[in-house]
Amino acid sequence: MAVKRVVAVLALATSLLATSVLGEEQAKCGQASYYPSEYACYDNKTLCPITFSLPTKPCGGGCYSPEQYSCEDETIKDLPEATSPFTLTFSGVRKTFQNLNVKACGRYLAVGANARECHACTAAGGTNCGTYQNSTVLLPGGEMASDVPGHQYWYINPTDGILRYTEALAGNASLWNATIPGKEFAGQNVKVYENGLFTWTREDATTHWWMACLVTLPGGAVGTARSWRIYAPTYVNMERGDCELGRIFSKAVDRKAGVYKYP
Ligand SMILES: *[C@@H]1O[C@H](CO)[C@@H](O)[C@H](O)[C@H]1NC(C)=O
Ligand SMILES: *[C@@H]1O[C@H](CO)[C@@H](O)[C@H](O)[C@H]1NC(C)=O
Ligand SMILES: *[C@@H]1O[C@H](CO)[C@@H](O)[C@H](O)[C@H]1NC(C)=O
Ligand SMILES: *[C@@H]1O[C@H](CO)[C@@H](O)[C@H](O)[C@H]1NC(C)=O
Repeated sequence: MAVKRVVAVLALATSLLATSVLGEEQAKCGQASYYPSEYACYDNKTLCPITFSLPTKPCGGGCYSPEQYSCEDETIKDLPEATSPFTLTFSGVRKTFQNLNVKACGRYLAVGANARECHACTAAGGTNCGTYQNSTVLLPGGEMASDVPGHQYWYINPTDGILRYTEALAGNASLWNATIPGKEFAGQNVKVYENGLFTWTREDATTHWWMACLVTLPGGAVGTARSWRIYAPTYVNMERGDCELGRIFSKAVDRKAGVYKYP
């Protein structure tokens, strides 16, 4: 059963890619013919597949994804895990889903034109709000790059697989150690490569895929205030038909690109 569903995701990706090459001219790589939307040709001799609009590169007779691996002495190696604070971008199959910034607001991480990037700061207590740049920045290990007392954490919500972050606690020291819903799952099952892939490990396998699923925000008129929330491809989520498949990439940034608090 599990295997069947994984294959379905790959088949969907392949069929989406296939539709994009209708009417496309073939090109030559040495003696071989190929579709430039499906393969990249290196040195007029080696073909490597393009997956989700990103070319893979040749290394020691194979091909590798530079977002997950490096090539040293013709050997494919894992990229190091992220140690720097990072922002995220989502890249799906369709042109309109390339390179979308992942934005934090209202305890969800979302993409798309209507996804809001929210920040808050109170100068009371001597905080210098002007020192923050207000981007959505995550830290390796599960914290958000915010400075609010009690901290904020990013996590995959175990019941529905949604990528979320925890609320900011008020500046009341006696509450800092209270149980924050979601904190116990901070960073769990997610592996982040430095300037590379943001991956998720399901019980049976590590996947590079994520889903962006359309939601209409409460209070928003239908068709207007809509954004795409980020979902892990749990077996239940993979049954959905209203989502874009894509991959998520990290980019190392300065911690101060973040905010005081993500409301
Ligand atoms: C690529 O290789 C083919 C066959 O070996 C050759 O005919 C062609 O001229 C080469 N193209 C380039 C740009 O080197
Ligand atoms: C970020 O937001 C704070 C208020 O929360 C503001 O004072 C600061 O100037 C903003 N920084 C940038 C770079 O927009
Ligand atoms: C902090 O929170 C506690 C528990 O809710 C409350 O009893 C206390 O008055 C609060 N302190 C301040 C300074 O707001
Ligand atoms: C929170 O818990 C940690 C570890 O148990 C402790 O060192 C710290 O003083 C606590 N902070 C507050 C504000 O109670």
